[in-house]
Amino acid sequence: MKIAVVGGTGFVGLTAAVGLANKGHSVFCVGRNKEKVSKISRGIPIIYEENLEKLLNKALETGNFLATTDLKTAVKESDVSFICVSTPSGESGKIDLKQIEGASAEIGKALGEKKSYHVVTVKSTVVPGTTENIVIPILEKFSGKKAGADFGVCMNPEFLREGCAVSDFLYPKDTGIVIGELDNKSGDVLVEIFKEFDGEILKTSLRCAEMVKYARNSYLAKDISFANEIANICQNVGVDYLEVKRGTEMDSRIGKGRFLDAGVGFGGSCFPKDVKALFAKGVESGVKPLMLKATLDVNDQQPFIVIKLLKQLLGKLRNRRIAILGAAFKPGTDDMREAPSIRIVNAILSEEAKISVYDPVALENARGIFGENVVYCEGVEDALHNVDACVIVTEWPEFAEPNIYSNMKGKVIIDGRRVLDPGKLPSGFVYHGIGLPEAVKT
Ligand code: UGA
Repeated sequence: MKIAVVGGTGFVGLTAAVGLANKGHSVFCVGRNKEKVSKISRGIPIIYEENLEKLLNKALETGNFLATTDLKTAVKESDVSFICVSTPSGESGKIDLKQIEGASAEIGKALGEKKSYHVVTVKSTVVPGTTENIVIPILEKFSGKKAGADFGVCMNPEFLREGCAVSDFLYPKDTGIVIGELDNKSGDVLVEIFKEFDGEILKTSLRCAEMVKYARNSYLAKDISFANEIANICQNVGVDYLEVKRGTEMDSRIGKGRFLDAGVGFGGSCFPKDVKALFAKGVESGVKPLMLKATLDVNDQQPFIVIKLLKQLLGKLRNRRIAILGAAFKPGTDDMREAPSIRIVNAILSEEAKISVYDPVALENARGIFGENVVYCEGVEDALHNVDACVIVTEWPEFAEPNIYSNMKGKVIIDGRRVLDPGKLPSGFVYHGIGLPEAVKT
């Protein structure tokens, strides 16, 4: 099939465009930014994502992938378009739909000049009712055509995790594929595309598909905040959260593999934004979303637990040297949007301590956020050189390697993700972590 991916230079759009091309479809990857489009055309994927570069180049070689700024031609020459533009948090957590509105208007104009049937698919995360109340009226206004009669409309939420987005897209076995459809004819076109993927397909209404996305992310975010709250209580009542977690997961109704790893809180471009958006939508609909509020409140406080632990072990932080290990919001990505590292670094800086930061891939983004206020280190040993303490903020596998800490001057480690086994550290260290009742001396 011929497919236009609008917003193709973003994380979701590029992953989808490359994934669809590798499934044999002919893809127009449409972006507004000429520089980004040109890089993608040359096989440079502009974002860090496992296997993306390899598959982008494979798609370019086969000739069924074209990066372009020409939205009109892309839509006119394709059967389906996916809208993958971003929907950032606007005023009071509500999503900002400007980019969705802009893309819908441009697609609408192209539809006006197109004779054959075309299905417009919203993939961006949008609150329930958006496709029906905003996207469709704009498409109809700018095309002069009628949704349903002249063109199809679907809503197909994305369930990609950063760091493994390409494989999540290509193998949706664990997430399934949700297709919200305006009518059967629209949905059947998407089924035709996704039937080749190994994942259960659920057809729903447009609104339901929109809600599924928010329900999933809020559910997972709620689990993380719950885990963090339990870990904080464990810390104060003298038990180790990791053992409590093991014991809890033995109940098959709870089970392993849930989002119950306590830490410094959730970040990224999805959970914080989506929980806030659903909260705002809930309020607007007349519900008091208490669980969503608690999820956000716990998460706002969680990064500061490591500051409390640092102070417990070092006393005043003024003029102390602290290494921050990990800046990305999670391993496997250079993304620092809403990363807990931002709150942690700013809180430590406000105590007038000195900071060295190391992250295997996110240093460039860190520079854009922390500027000249911290020292950036190209290697973990460099970051740990001459510091009084270190804080593990992102669980990159290399931080679980006890030998990297051997040459630390001040032997204090605060583990914000509980990745390190203190039993394996050399002697003379003081180790503390989230959900641990007291510091361990090695
Ligand atoms: C999340 C969802 O997992 C995806 O299913 C969804 O498609 C995506 O949002 C989206 O809406 O696009 P992502 O934000 O990439 O994916 O990252 P996650 O792996 O879910 O982690 C989010 C945050 O939660 C990270 O900061 C991570 O460190 C934290 N986390 C996760 C915990 O603190 N504890 C856990 O047990 C799990």
